[in-house]
Amino acid sequence: MAKRDVLRILREQYEPISGQKIAQMLSISREAVWASVQKLRRDGYAIVVKPKGYLLLKPTAPLSAKAIQSNMQGHPWQDRLTVLKLVDSTNDYAKRLAAEGAPEGTAVLAEAQQNGHGRRGRSFDSPAGHGIYLSVILRPQEKPTALLHLTAAVAEAVAEAVEAQTGLQVDIKWVNDLVAGEKKLGGILSEMSADFKAEQTNYIVVGIGLNCCQSAGAFPPELAQMATSIAAQTGVQPDRNALVAEILIALSRLRDTLMTERSDWIQRYASRCITIGKQVRVLRAGKARKAVALGINESAALAVEYSDGTREWISSGEVSVRGLYGYIS
Ligand code: BTN
Repeated sequence: MAKRDVLRILREQYEPISGQKIAQMLSISREAVWASVQKLRRDGYAIVVKPKGYLLLKPTAPLSAKAIQSNMQGHPWQDRLTVLKLVDSTNDYAKRLAAEGAPEGTAVLAEAQQNGHGRRGRSFDSPAGHGIYLSVILRPQEKPTALLHLTAAVAEAVAEAVEAQTGLQVDIKWVNDLVAGEKKLGGILSEMSADFKAEQTNYIVVGIGLNCCQSAGAFPPELAQMATSIAAQTGVQPDRNALVAEILIALSRLRDTLMTERSDWIQRYASRCITIGKQVRVLRAGKARKAVALGINESAALAVEYSDGTREWISSGEVSVRGLYGYIS
């Protein structure tokens, strides 16, 4: 038990942390911390002892605003980026900035999140130095109901950016999961602030979580079967700074064409969406019904056909669609 807790703390740090501090945080002895570190090393974790304490080595260069900006020279969003070492959630941080009036294209990026989350309150594992945890503020003028395709379009834009930067083929599991090799590579969480009565959108924070550098065996046990990373799929550690720049540029292109090229975004999303044509379980109010996914419409709603032949459009907020036998199928 102590081993897992020590690992959780080390995964959140980008600077060395003393054995005494870890011991205090966990109410255990320094000897127990040391014993856990030894066990973790035997498990293959690269933990070094620095003058200021223990450090779990990270596989790639740190995130850097300068390095990201050098890949987006002249782009209007390049100076709207904040890079943090540790944050509760980049989405929560970006929502705070948006409420204070931050402009469109303001982006928050962190090396680690303590409370990274996805849809339906699920947590998003966010170890330091291994992923991209990025949130971007958008301020579309359209009314909230005209923006139902946004999350799908963001998933498509991010998938295209990852492919362009790494060569990895990225699929999408309806509605917001990024998938590679039939495992989850990442996900999108869009959060909107709006006056629904006045049909006015205040802002949308789009959050992007991507597993980049984890080796296949490095995920926590509960994710081991269903999660993957760019490095695990390609055998190459991606340049996270270049990839963040590519994603930001892709998002600004999406912002410019969200309404004018809506059908194109949806068509490209649909051809990437591995849910279509598959048997799925539609979960609603604790009950599961088997169905076949037929296709999606301009609002990114999913058409399903139940075994009794009835059909229904499902919107993302309503239900969750799972494969019949596992994460994908
Ligand atoms: C999902 O899988 O349901 C979506 C996961 C979204 C995770 C990202 S990481 C950056 C941003 N901050 C969060 O707390 N969530 C999103």
